[in-house]
Amino acid sequence: MTAQNKIEIIMTGPLMAYAADQLKARFIVHELWKAEDKAAALAELRDRVRGVAGGGAHIKIDGALFDALPKLEIVSNFGVGYDNVDAAEAGRRGLVVTNTPDVLTDEVADLALGLLLSTVRQLPQVDRYLREGKWLAGAYPLTTSLRKRKIGIVGLGRIGKAVAHRLEAFGVEIAYHGRSRQADVAYRYYPSLVEMAQDVDTLVSVAPGGDSTYHIINAEVLKALGPNGIVVNVGRGTVIDEQALIKALQDKTILSAGLDVFEDEPRVPAELIALDHVVLLPHVGSASVHTREQMGQLLVDNLNSWFDGKGPLTPVVETPWKKA
Ligand code: NAP
Ligand code: 8YV
Repeated sequence: MTAQNKIEIIMTGPLMAYAADQLKARFIVHELWKAEDKAAALAELRDRVRGVAGGGAHIKIDGALFDALPKLEIVSNFGVGYDNVDAAEAGRRGLVVTNTPDVLTDEVADLALGLLLSTVRQLPQVDRYLREGKWLAGAYPLTTSLRKRKIGIVGLGRIGKAVAHRLEAFGVEIAYHGRSRQADVAYRYYPSLVEMAQDVDTLVSVAPGGDSTYHIINAEVLKALGPNGIVVNVGRGTVIDEQALIKALQDKTILSAGLDVFEDEPRVPAELIALDHVVLLPHVGSASVHTREQMGQLLVDNLNSWFDGKGPLTPVVETPWKKA
């Protein structure tokens, strides 16, 4: 294929070289985030771009971009969560959106368990204690425990189930909340999140972002969780009312929190950073070389499959694909 008839696509944000190099080998790739005047860049590309490679959880891909690119056919999103993409609008316009399910499930579940243990046993704080030479003056104070904790998982999907599977090995009680009961598990199901929070002392949220989950973990839920309560969030920051969480931590309505995701990433409220009894991670759930390569490959494979005329590999529910 000559450069003249190569398909043109846009990358909305930086992708690892592993994926970006493969895209550049097949397509003419426009690195939109590098353009000083994005509107001018889009106007220039308007009738040429047929695909978008979505580069990150907080880069919006919405109707305005679709308006600017009338020849667009497919958005291949880097990430299983696609609340950054207006998939419903894409569906209305006959566009296809793909995401990266399954290939990151185990990595994120591993991280969720690490974050839970770090929060309960205060591992970052204990590490700091040793480095600051405080051990010489005496032992670190005793911490709370995972023993006898009851864990409520918010969003028992692919990652939620992998978290639950790992938790079984830790011998803790497991329950879950979601919009529907899962047929393939025996854990107790709570249609009401407040009722689950009343009965458990630990919430692990793996729910997606978007309107239907916005602030479902709110002041009422945190109060129900109680003073021994711990909240871990590896889903999306918008699921928790961050201001209500900060207040609940400050006034000890709950004990602690472990957060990998935030409402306005990469900005994290100073009030959270000021609290020494929380564990904060910069959205690293899937961030290993192994798993990011798998995600990048799936992003590339979706675009290749589409432009080979074979349809998308992992379309999202809002843009279902039926073979002709
Ligand atoms: P999934 O298989 O689609 O699972 C999502 C679960 O959330 C489902 O069980 C769903 O159950 C539940 N859910 C959806 N809407 C809900 C609502 N309004 N209220 C309560 N529960 C709701 O997705 P996944 O592969 O497990 O990924 C889950 C999320 O994890 C992603 O969307 C992403 O936001 C996040 N994630 C974060 C990282 C990270 O780096 N921290 C990495 C990967 C993914 P029902 O349909 O029955 O409600
Ligand atoms: C990625 C994620 O870090 O898959 C998701 O939904 O949140 C993470 O795996 C993110 O999409 C890349 O910025």
